[in-house]
Amino acid sequence: MAQPLTVPSMTAGADFVLRPWEMSDLPLIREAAGDDYIPLITTIPSPYSDEAAEAYVRRQWHRAAAGTGYPFTIARTRDRRPVGSIGLWLADAAEGRASLGYWMTAPARRQGVTGAALRSVTTWALHELRIPRVQLLVEPWNTASVRTAESAGYRREGLLRGWQEIGGSRRDMLMYARLNSDRPSGDRVPTGS
Ligand SMILES: CC(C)(COP(=O)(O)OP(=O)(O)OC[C@H]1O[C@@H](n2cnc3c(N)ncnc32)[C@H](O)[C@@H]1OP(=O)(O)O)[C@@H](O)C(=O)NCCC(=O)NCCS
Repeated sequence: MAQPLTVPSMTAGADFVLRPWEMSDLPLIREAAGDDYIPLITTIPSPYSDEAAEAYVRRQWHRAAAGTGYPFTIARTRDRRPVGSIGLWLADAAEGRASLGYWMTAPARRQGVTGAALRSVTTWALHELRIPRVQLLVEPWNTASVRTAESAGYRREGLLRGWQEIGGSRRDMLMYARLNSDRPSGDRVPTGS
């Protein structure tokens, strides 16, 4: 069995912090549950209930305790109000790979927050945890996520056809990755270069 993990806190840009999930984060789950897409790619309960949301928070705690990954909420530094989520998952850690997933509540989008969070977790994973490769999967239509990945220096590697089921249909996914041998964090890699 993998070692239990302690989810650290870290900054994400000047105004946001990444921190472990708290039981007081239920309003964040309620907001995410109302999104069209987030419940399809996560286990965020939709329709929302307090009971299911509490179970969601406990699942995040369990993931760290079981050593399967680091789940963070993205919160405003000034009042700790959570606005989104990012996770680093270690199912393939023995092979030198980790994967990431993220989402942001709609009112907090387009402010650079997820990009900053992704840069922080990526730098930490590559250079402090010393994971050789971090990767993430994005549906080709998802321009917001493509741009977020590219803004954090992820490089597009290819299209995985019919990779997974989302919302009842098989979906193609773009594979994005960064290696700890790539250029320093924050470098933008233009698509098609
Ligand atoms: C994808 C998502 C997390 C982006 O979050 P965000 O906080 O708005 O992202 P940021 O503000 O940090 O933007 C990062 C980059 O993406 C660009 N971007 C964000 N949303 C965009 C959109 N709708 N269209 C075009 N570009 C967009 C930003 O301009 C920025 O690029 P830049 O650095 O070149 O200016 C958010 O749209 C979301 O939660 N979507 C639903 C869940 C989801 O798709 N998760 C990812 C699954 S792979």
